[in-house]
Formats: sequence, C-alpha cells, structure tokens
Amino acid sequence: MKAANMNQGRGVIERFREFLPACKTVVSLGEGNTPLLFSPKLSERVGRGCEVFIKNEGVNPTGSFKDRGMTVAVSRAIDRGGRALICASTGNTSASAAAYAARAGIPCAVILPAGKIATGKLIQAFAHGAKIVEIDGNFDDALRIVRELGDEKEFAIVNSINPDRIAGQKTAAFEIIVELAEAPDFHLLPVGNAGNITAYWAGYREFHAKGKSKKRPAMIGFQASGAAPIFHNRVIEKPETIASAIRIGNPASWKQARAALDESKGAIHTVTDEEILSAQRWLASNEGILVEPASAASIAGLFKRAEKIPNGSRIVCTVTGHGLKDPDSIQRRIGKLESVPAKIDNVRRALGF
Ligand code: F0G
Repeated sequence: MKAANMNQGRGVIERFREFLPACKTVVSLGEGNTPLLFSPKLSERVGRGCEVFIKNEGVNPTGSFKDRGMTVAVSRAIDRGGRALICASTGNTSASAAAYAARAGIPCAVILPAGKIATGKLIQAFAHGAKIVEIDGNFDDALRIVRELGDEKEFAIVNSINPDRIAGQKTAAFEIIVELAEAPDFHLLPVGNAGNITAYWAGYREFHAKGKSKKRPAMIGFQASGAAPIFHNRVIEKPETIASAIRIGNPASWKQARAALDESKGAIHTVTDEEILSAQRWLASNEGILVEPASAASIAGLFKRAEKIPNGSRIVCTVTGHGLKDPDSIQRRIGKLESVPAKIDNVRRALGF
C-alpha cells in the first residue's frame, strides 16, 4: 500500500506551506483537494480530440473556492493579532469569512448589497454568527465602505484585496498541475471581482517558474453580459445579472486580471443570463454537478467558444460554488408538484408506466 500523504485533506496551508506566506496559526476547515473530474460529455461536445476537466470548487467546506484564500487570510490575521474580520460580499466570501471566523473564535462583520444575496449564502453567514449589515447599494459600494473601515485597523479585511486571499486561492492551479502532471492548454472561469483569475494565473506562473510544468494555460474569463466591466473596459454603474455572485461593476483586481489575460494570451468574453442558466441545467442533468449560476458561466463560455479551441487541447473549467447556495435560481422551474394517494397504482400512473 502507498504511504498516506499526511498533508492531504488537512487544508491548503499544510499541503502547500512552502509556496505560501508564513502562517504560524492554522485556521483550516480542510479546504482544497477538490475533484478534477474528466468530463466525457463535455469533451465530446467540444470534439476534435479535446479533453475537458471540471475543477469542482463547490465541494470546499463552505461550498465555494473562497475557502482556499480564507484559510490563509484568517490564519495570518490571527498571527498579526487581528481581533475581528470584515468583508464586502456578493455572498460566498461572507459565508466563508463567517465560518473561518467561527473556527478562529473571533467576530466577523459582513457588508452586503441588500436583497441581492442568494438565500443559502445569507443563511451560512447568519448560522456562523456573523454580524450582517445590508446596504442600499451594490457590491462595489459595499467594498468601498469596507476599505474605509479596514483603514481604521480594528478589522482585518478578508476580501481578495488582501494578498493572503490570492495566495491561498492560487493553490487550485497547483492541484491541477499536480493531478494532470502538466498545466492545461486553456483554463476557463467566471470573473467577478477578478481575484480568482488573478490567483490562478499566479499559481500557474509560479509552478511553471519552478519547473513543475512546461507550459502555462491561456486564461479565458467569462463575465455576465449585464456585469462585464473588464470586457467593455469601463466601470458598469448598475451591474445586473441572475448570477448574483458576479454582479460587480468595478472589480478590485481589474488590473491584475488584465495582466493575466494579456500575459497568458487569454481572453475575456461575456455570457448572457439565459446561457448561464442553460449551462447550469445542462451540468446538473448531464454530469450530476449542481452549481450556482455564476459557476455555470465557465461552462456556458465553453459552449459558446468551443469552436475557437484548437484540436487536441486540454481544457479545465472551474465551477466555483455549490448550487444549493442559490435554490431560488432552480425552484422557479419546479412549479407545483401534485400529490397522489399513497397507493402503488396511483404512483405507477403518476410515473407514466
Ligand atoms: N463564482 C462565484 C460562485 C463567486 O462567489 C465569485 C465571487 C466568483 C465566481 C468570481 O470570483 O470575484 O474572484 O472574480 N464572489 C465574491 C463574493 C465577489 O463576495 O463572494 P472573483
């Protein structure tokens, strides 16, 4: 039997410590080490000998990729004597921050755009005991306020403007290289505040520079068409999309994302809400993976851009968050279920055989 890797399943700090900023304290929920699933159906849809893999970040402890960065940001905040956390969020960052704050035993404040947070995410922040403040404004307004409050030193900001978040999140690229024994040719992912595309590119660059991969992928980002500031190259004052996680008009890591796109010879594109919901449905019913709408942007993008991808390419699509976080996006489709008498004949008839 192969010796167990003691660092696997113990979180990204233990597994990748030598590539991360120093952490004395480790606040972990066992994040990372998420499945990189080969998808025969997506590979077939793209065709021409291409291979498509799905990096399923929805199976992180709080159901999104944010946990990778949060473990580093919170551990280092504790090392520096931080007494409370604060973040702005479209939902997932607040859910993750709240959980890691609970684990660390410190308070957490979350500033959210009122009425725009998916139900599951709000429930997570509440259940983990965060102080929740909703503002009459969007995510960009919330982040502006958090930056100002963070300046007062009472709070450690755990948004991705904190470099520790980016450092933790780059471990997803490390895992992909380790598993494929090489970087893919293309990496597709949704873009909101643009921290994740920045982090993946940092990870790919670092492992390439250390000789752990021979190539670096082209980074292909997807924004929702009603919230596509990087694509349009201008701030969107009133971003709108069903994919509430990426409803952002002025991304904090805009410049870094631009650099990642340019250096990697990648590109940024848009997908409509209809394309996002249809990709979400496709993934759930064809692959058994339920993701939230924002996450489906990478799959919607793959469908849209497939023919531009050269023959024989290896493609990784990151899906960023679990579908149960946003039940409303699916509940609408259920309609009304009619009950039948509890008898086998009625059930058989209802089933249609
Ligand atoms: N997918 C999901 C599920 C997200 O929650 C986010 C961002 C993104 C994609 C985009 O990642 O911002 O690094 O470009 N959510 C942040 C939040 C903004 O507050 O939870 P990004």
